[in-house]
Amino acid sequence: MKIIPVANYEEMSARAAEILLEQVRSKPDSVLGLATGSTPVGTYQHMVAAYQQGKISFAHCRSINLDEYVGLGPGDTASYHYFMWHNLFHHIDIRPENAHLPDGKNLDAQDACTRYDQLVSDLGPIDLQVLGIGSNGHIAFNEPSDHFVADTHIVDLTDGTINDNQRFFARREDVPTQAYTLGMRPILNAKLALLLVTGPGKAEALHRSLTGPITPAVPASILQLHDNLIVIADQAALSKF
Ligand code: GLP
Repeated sequence: MKIIPVANYEEMSARAAEILLEQVRSKPDSVLGLATGSTPVGTYQHMVAAYQQGKISFAHCRSINLDEYVGLGPGDTASYHYFMWHNLFHHIDIRPENAHLPDGKNLDAQDACTRYDQLVSDLGPIDLQVLGIGSNGHIAFNEPSDHFVADTHIVDLTDGTINDNQRFFARREDVPTQAYTLGMRPILNAKLALLLVTGPGKAEALHRSLTGPITPAVPASILQLHDNLIVIADQAALSKF
């Protein structure tokens, strides 16, 4: 594990984008594991800028997103589909057919999860997996639990996660209570995992994840087992170390 301490969000975003761009330069058909949330937005802005300046092409990249809310699809502005197109895909040259998220509109959970696992296994292993962390230590939507789950599955979101994410919705009642999420297998199998952490609200979760016991009660703690983990964290997020 390598921890790169940075001063702030902007520096985290710039460093993360450098690593992503280097990945795509060295392997233009990289499989990128992508994340949503506020944390990677700045990183995506740097990627868009590099593309617009003609410094990089994503035309041969494939992407696999971590998760999607059950019931939401591309037409819903709070969906992760919408987030990814709005923040990244519309502004770069990735081919639409190569940009993948779980199908939140498929309410047959077993079918939705099996299809996504098949896709991940056809495309994988992921070359570079971008990760954020929830304030409760979740990664993707693998919520604290008494067991780790390997493959794509449906999860009940915790009240804390619903509270954290309600800022993306008009009303708390609008936040879906379930999501489809990748399990831990493809995350651990990614050739490089890049965990981005910013702000004081993540300090406790980050400290427990990297220094505490490996336990499904703190899902990100499983990253201690990753062979090639880079953590880029700002001063506020590292304040408990
Ligand atoms: C969501 C996503 C996670 C993300 C987390 C943190 O719940 N499913 O992938 O890492 O929130 O989000 P933020 O970056 O907005 O704090």
